[in-house]
Amino acid sequence: MKMGIAVIGSNMVDLISYITRMPEEGETIEAPDFQMGCGGKGANQAIVSARLGSEVVMVTRVGDDLFAENTIRNFSENGIDTTHVLRTEGSSGVAPIFVDQQSHNSIIIVKGANNQLSAEDIESAAERIKGCKLIVLQLEVPLETVYAAVEFGEKHGIPVLLNPAPAAPDLVLDRVKTCEFIVPNETELSLLTGMPVDTQNDIRNASAVLLNVGIKNVIVTLGSRGVYWTNGETEEFFGPSLVQARDTTGAGDAFIGCFSHMWVKTGDIAKSLQTAGLYAGDSVTRLGTQTSYADALDFQSRYPEVEL
Ligand code: RIB
Ligand code: NA
Repeated sequence: MKMGIAVIGSNMVDLISYITRMPEEGETIEAPDFQMGCGGKGANQAIVSARLGSEVVMVTRVGDDLFAENTIRNFSENGIDTTHVLRTEGSSGVAPIFVDQQSHNSIIIVKGANNQLSAEDIESAAERIKGCKLIVLQLEVPLETVYAAVEFGEKHGIPVLLNPAPAAPDLVLDRVKTCEFIVPNETELSLLTGMPVDTQNDIRNASAVLLNVGIKNVIVTLGSRGVYWTNGETEEFFGPSLVQARDTTGAGDAFIGCFSHMWVKTGDIAKSLQTAGLYAGDSVTRLGTQTSYADALDFQSRYPEVEL
C-alpha cells in the first residue's frame, strides 16, 4: 500500500529580522530582534506533514557550507527520510526575511544549492517516491525539475500537489495540467491567469482558468479572508481562523503541509482544508517559520476537536 508524502523542493536558512521599518537607500538602522531557523517552502511543508505524523521523504539539495549539516539534522530530528538530501558545491539556500510590527513580511531568497536540484535527482529517488501517495512541489527549484516531477507523478499514478510559490511568471500551465491540486495564493493566482482576484467572483473566474487546463482541484489561500476550493463540480469558501497574528512567515507552507497530511490520511478534501486553515492560523500566533509549527500533540491541545 502507498503511504507517505514525497516533497521534491527547496530548503533555506531563514534569517529573520524583526524591524520597525525598512531602511532607505544608503541608510543604516537598528532592528530590535533577530531569529535564525530552518525554512524554505519545500522543507517547511515537509516538516509540518512530518510533525503531524506523516511519513515524509525529502528530495532536495544543500550546499557545502555550515548550514548544510544543520538542515540535514533538522530533517532527521523531525523524522524525515534524508536519503535523498543531496550535497552540492557552494552555498545552501538562504532567505533574509524582514517582519514588521504589523506582522507583514518581506523575503529575499537566494536559492543556492536549490538551483541544482534536477530531473536526474528525481530519477535517483524514483523507487522511494513510487511508494508515496502524494508528491508535493513548489517553485524554489528550477521549473524543468518541477515539470519532471509532475511527469513522474503522471507516469506512476501518484497525485501531485503544486504550490506555485513564489510567483513565477514563466510557469507553463500546460506542463502542470495533470496535477491533482494547485494551491496558489491570490497574488499567484492572478499572475498565473492574468486575471483580477479582488472579489469572490474574480477568484471563481480565475480558478476556472486553471480547471480548464485540466488541473482537478484549485485551492486558493486568501490569507485573512480564508480559503477557496473548487473542483469544477462543487466550490466552497472557508472562513479564516480568527487569531492574533505575530508573524505570518511560512503560514502558507503550514497550510499545505497540514492539508497534505490530512488528505493522504483521509482523502476528504473539505475536512483537510478546514484542519489546514486552523493549523496555519495557529502558526501565525508564534514567531519564526518552522519554530512556529506545532506538532500533533501541541496542536490538539489547542484544538481538541481536530482529528489528525
Ligand atoms: O514560505 C516561507 C518561506 O519562503 C521561508 O521559509 C523562506 O525560506 C522562503 O522560502
Ligand atoms: Na509563524
